Amino acid sequence: MATAGKIIKCKAAVAWEPNKPLVMEEIEVAPPQANEVRIKIVATAVCHTDLYFLLESNDERGFPTVLGHEAAGIVESVGPGVTEIQPGDKVIPLFIPQCRECRFCKSPKTNQCVRECQMAPLDSRFTCKGKKVLQFSGTSTFSEYTVVNQMAVAKIDPAAPLDKVCLISCGVSTGYGAVVNTAKVEPGSTCAVFGLGCVGLAAVMGCQAAGAKKIIAVDINPEKFEKAKVFGATDFVNPKDHSKPISEVLSEMTNGGVDFAMECVGNVEVMRSALESCVKGWGVGILVGWTDLYDLSVRPLQLIAGRTLKGSLFGGFKGRDDVPKMVKAYMDKKLKVDEFITHHMSLDQINDAIELMKRGECIRTVLSVSPQ
Ligand code: CU
Repeated sequence: MATAGKIIKCKAAVAWEPNKPLVMEEIEVAPPQANEVRIKIVATAVCHTDLYFLLESNDERGFPTVLGHEAAGIVESVGPGVTEIQPGDKVIPLFIPQCRECRFCKSPKTNQCVRECQMAPLDSRFTCKGKKVLQFSGTSTFSEYTVVNQMAVAKIDPAAPLDKVCLISCGVSTGYGAVVNTAKVEPGSTCAVFGLGCVGLAAVMGCQAAGAKKIIAVDINPEKFEKAKVFGATDFVNPKDHSKPISEVLSEMTNGGVDFAMECVGNVEVMRSALESCVKGWGVGILVGWTDLYDLSVRPLQLIAGRTLKGSLFGGFKGRDDVPKMVKAYMDKKLKVDEFITHHMSLDQINDAIELMKRGECIRTVLSVSPQ
């Protein structure tokens, strides 16, 4: 492309400091260095983890930054040493890289590459008004162009609609994979999903795909229940309708507790409830929602009695290997994605999209960034 090797000036939503609206700025994006790929972002979506970093983490050292990690785009140019990816390829950036060489990548048990999920901002190829702007989660997709290491790029089907499959880069895979990869939900089992945002709804979809016979959707906003039905939920519980603890309600509904409980909120009280909703002997609670601000407390007997508590990050998917398969599953109509999209906006409207998310009024808002 004509821009290869040159600095690109483009639009990006810059987070100058915590807890403030993002500002649309013209930024400069330097060419990719060794093993890096410069991507034209076509579509991106706001995820809770972006909000968590902006609003809750209060990590001043992480600013200014360009947030965003749920996206899809087209490769503009590649740096030296990039072998599997070419300009023009359709790609999904990955917030958990897959180097394929470390102890973790070589193990089939995990997707945790030694090159960690970079929640802490890093050096970047971005500058704005002469200032360095940091990279968020190794991706920074609230920008027309971004530069990502090739270890954090999944090449996908050239026919894939990027304004849909962008959701596979975080929310949809995180919830779905937590069920099929981490929990390994078995046919005929009883499941509970706490929190019906994108991740929770994707977990419901995973439970259905795994053949669960009872899928209990739990949320304090009953407006989410209609949507949960679309993804396969069979029962609906609003904790606000009950005076007793939700774990007791679920235990009564399921003759002693669920086989699998997925926490998709990122709240330590809900995490505890999820574990306590599991049946003794074999029940498994999975932590899917993101938080790292508070300790989680559980009564030891909950675990001694045979329950297991596990965590799942990005649904246990190894990004470069598995994201293209998830895209294929969508193209083959074996995976729902469109149903998660409740709003469409342009990148300029990102602060409106953030407000919708804060108020819990959307599942996903897809922001169009550049033409496909
Ligand atoms: Cu996310």
